[in-house]
Amino acid sequence: MQVLVTPDYLTLSRQAADIVAEAVRLQPPLILGLPTGNTPLGIYRELVRKHSEENLDLSRVQTFNLDEYIGLASGHPSSYHTYMRLHLFEHVNVPVERIHIPDGAPGTDTELESTCYEQAIHQAGGIDLLIVGIGSNGHIAFNEPGSSFTSRTRVVDLAIETRENARRYFASEKEIPHQAITVGIGTILEARRILLLASGSAKAKAVARALGGPVSEDVPASALQHHPQVTAILDEAAAR
Ligand code: F6R
Repeated sequence: MQVLVTPDYLTLSRQAADIVAEAVRLQPPLILGLPTGNTPLGIYRELVRKHSEENLDLSRVQTFNLDEYIGLASGHPSSYHTYMRLHLFEHVNVPVERIHIPDGAPGTDTELESTCYEQAIHQAGGIDLLIVGIGSNGHIAFNEPGSSFTSRTRVVDLAIETRENARRYFASEKEIPHQAITVGIGTILEARRILLLASGSAKAKAVARALGGPVSEDVPASALQHHPQVTAILDEAAAR
């Protein structure tokens, strides 16, 4: 694993965006795995800037988001569909038919959706470059502690800590979903290259356990130690 420590969040975001942009330039039909949350906001801002100021062309990429809440319509203000539209897709030129986000809307057969989503990743040829954040409990995507390292896209229950961390995105506690569709750890480990991003002191403990501790299903991100092509970009606070 290559570990890069940057002085701050802005530098982390720029370095991560440079890696993505370079990969797209080398391979325009790149298949990207994308996270949501606080951590990737800077990288998306930087990709939007590169698209408008440096002609970064994303018209041939395909994207697969890592997860989505169950029970929110795609237009719900706190859905990951909305997040991706607002922070990235509205501002760049990824064709809508090349954007994939699990559908967790009310009324969806989420088991079937999970199976189809996993198949769609395979049919696309697998993920070339997958970006992940890390939860304060060590989760990657919504693979909570205890998730199998061979897990696939599926319906999961969100950990209490994950729901607490999501509180700021919802009007009230009771609106926070209890379940999500997430790609599995097995799905993540099949990506050809992985970029792990962590920023801030709240992530330091999880980062230490994931990168420096034993590989264990108690710490889902520790599975990344098994992968041959991981770059972790940490700011100083997360690296501490
Ligand atoms: C989101 C996701 C989560 C987050 C993680 C960190 O799509 O898969 O695993 O990456 O919870 O979230 P932030 O970046 O908000 O600290």
